[in-house]
Amino acid sequence: MTAIATVILGAGSGTRMKSKLPKVLHQVAGRAMISHLLGTLEELDPTKTIVVVAPGMDNVRAEVYPAEIAVQEEALGTAHAVGAALDTLMGFDGDVLILYGDTPLLTADTLKNLVEARRQGNDTAVAVLGFEPVDPTGYGRLVTTASGELEAIVEELDATDEIRKIRFSNSGVMAISGSHIADLIGAVENKNSKAEYYLTDIIEIARKKGLICTAVKSADTELLGVNNRVQLAQAEKIVQKRWRTTAMLAGATLIDPDSVFFSHDTVLGQDVIIEPNVFFGPGVSVGDNVRIKANSHIEGAVIGAGSQIGPFARLRPGAEISEDVKIGNFVEVKKSRLEKGAKVSHLSYIGDARVGAEANIGAGTITCNYDGYNKYKTDIGAGAFIGSNTALVAPVAIGDGAIVGAGSTITKSVEANALAVERAIESIKPGWAKRFRELKKRLTK
Ligand code: UD1
Ligand code: MG
Repeated sequence: MTAIATVILGAGSGTRMKSKLPKVLHQVAGRAMISHLLGTLEELDPTKTIVVVAPGMDNVRAEVYPAEIAVQEEALGTAHAVGAALDTLMGFDGDVLILYGDTPLLTADTLKNLVEARRQGNDTAVAVLGFEPVDPTGYGRLVTTASGELEAIVEELDATDEIRKIRFSNSGVMAISGSHIADLIGAVENKNSKAEYYLTDIIEIARKKGLICTAVKSADTELLGVNNRVQLAQAEKIVQKRWRTTAMLAGATLIDPDSVFFSHDTVLGQDVIIEPNVFFGPGVSVGDNVRIKANSHIEGAVIGAGSQIGPFARLRPGAEISEDVKIGNFVEVKKSRLEKGAKVSHLSYIGDARVGAEANIGAGTITCNYDGYNKYKTDIGAGAFIGSNTALVAPVAIGDGAIVGAGSTITKSVEANALAVERAIESIKPGWAKRFRELKKRLTK
């Protein structure tokens, strides 16, 4: 297979997103759109990958590192953007695959098919990936001959009513022969309603040179272009659907798949059961036989085999849950390690802590990890028992097997197997309540 170079265009201002963030950094399934593409491209093993950015897009540069960068000084159109990458393609005569950074749902197989189509027949200079969206409004339309050759791509704004009726649309993805690309791009003019250099014009230019162009049809679920937040939500929907299907086919039970949201990197073990309304942010790995109960929010967390999470649990970055741990309702865990068999069953905050094996944390326990300036650690030993409504004021350590009485505010470390109670002495006045009620009754008569 001859070499492939890929060029991803990401220099557009993304006006329609109404955002300060460059469009290609907007996320789908917790990952920037442009990174989805870069991940897909890895499967094609390209000779080089060039990302076209605008001046000052340092955040895009950082996101795509170590891809090569070409700077398009001014956003004068998609052909002009490809022009900015031509220097780095000098002498390359394989296939140049052009992708738009706002088309994140492509699969590697589809791209391979496109490159194959470009390589068929000696004179095929350009192969374009087309699709038939339910509503083609906004897309360039593909004009084909009776024999299936691609004659032209006409942008919506420049199209006649007749052409607008065509549903076959331009995805923006093209494979262009490396030996023709410089000539084709060099010939593009900006005589159109937006006064931009359209990449789509290279089709007519190629045909005038006697070269052949072809269109390959692909599934519309892969080719959605994201120009505004409505389309961003549509892309999210498509990705989530793919993920749910993959998760179920790989051995997870999703009781209500449509209400479970994954990230691009969620890892699930076997026989995981996920109840309705669960959200996974990036960086989550779930071991075998874990049950995640309804309405839980989980990000940056590792969950060991056999653990139970939720309902209504919140696991934040740095939550390390070992095997057979129980995290119950309204429990928040951040940057803490819970060792095998530990239980935090109700209404607790565990932050910057270690909870030893088989320790039992009572309802309403709070690790007070922050004094307004710095964060401090709480260490709870194996088998310790923390009574309900305890405040553990960090830095503090509770030794193995120690017991803390309910309602205590613990500021000094407790040695192993000790009892710590911090409470005012309870005073009991017999009959007081009855006398109080009688007094109130007399006064309100
Ligand atoms: C483009 C196509 C249209 C196609 C659609 C598919 C052209 C002229 N039109 O329209 O036929 O149906 O995509 O989604 O190509 N960009 C630059 N520099 C620029 C302009 C754009 O890098 O000067 C980048 C953008 O960041 C974006 C991509 O090119 O990633 C496409 O630009 P966009 O403005 O979204 O084009 P569409 O109007 O969607
Ligand atoms: Mg677009």
